[in-house]
Amino acid sequence: MDTTTARNRAELSGKLTNVLDSRSLTKSHKRLAEMLTEGTTVLDVGCGTGAITRGIAEAVGPNGRVVGIDNNPNLIEKARQAHGDTPGLTFETGDIYNLAYEEEFDMVTSARVLIWLSDPLKALKMMKTAAKIGGRIVIADYNHEKILWEPQPPASMLSFYSAYLKWRSDAGRNNAIADHLPDLFQKTGIEGITVTPQHEITKRADSDFLTRIGIWADTASSRGAQMERDGYLTEKEYVEAEKEYREWMMQDAQSLTMYMLAVECVRQL
Ligand SMILES: C[S@@+](CC[C@H](N)C(=O)[O-])C[C@H]1O[C@@H](n2cnc3c(N)ncnc32)[C@H](O)[C@@H]1O
Repeated sequence: MDTTTARNRAELSGKLTNVLDSRSLTKSHKRLAEMLTEGTTVLDVGCGTGAITRGIAEAVGPNGRVVGIDNNPNLIEKARQAHGDTPGLTFETGDIYNLAYEEEFDMVTSARVLIWLSDPLKALKMMKTAAKIGGRIVIADYNHEKILWEPQPPASMLSFYSAYLKWRSDAGRNNAIADHLPDLFQKTGIEGITVTPQHEITKRADSDFLTRIGIWADTASSRGAQMERDGYLTEKEYVEAEKEYREWMMQDAQSLTMYMLAVECVRQL
């Protein structure tokens, strides 16, 4: 690993792993939760710290088999420490572009991962290969271009967010991946796709409102330095965006809607 990658990963390790840890199968991957049955085998690609993957293992029970894969070894280490004793569950460091499985799993899933990839079609082809014939592929992901805050957050955050989307798309990532998933599925030769809206809505009355709406303050804090190094904003700009957003969260914010779709199919060939 080069030093920039190591530094980027270290910066991410605190706040964003808290976000990953706060997720669960039933809250954060709802469509998959509805589909799981006892004894199923599941591959969860880009499992992060394994919070959702643990829920999958609990849902399929000890007669099932669940493998969580992530290309970040630090996250896999955390996943093993937190959830490694769950029956039927294992975690492996691995790359979605290089999965070592062929026709092996009843379900292959990935949540909030393809939006980070520069070649999501290649990733989807690998996921298809890992699924049994007759198995299911279920992807949940965002369209960050359709985010909705009520009311609008401070201009400093809007400006940070727009720099963030540009930084991502200049790196070849598709900010609107959710709405492109059906096309990607078709390009892998998959027919019979089902799309289920899974928009993540948080409102002030929710007990975890500040944690969930705070994801963008955490993002300014954790990604800001990397974006500054890449020339997309200054330190002053991302520090101000975080500070003013946190004040807005406490006083004015009413809701956040993160646009998300779950797209699924059965592997025919
Ligand atoms: C936003 S997190 C989502 C984690 C979890 N699925 C969830 O929904 O909370 C994206 C994850 O994808 C992983 N990832 C990114 N590129 C990957 C790749 N090429 N192969 C495997 N995992 C990857 C990251 O390390 C990170 O843990």
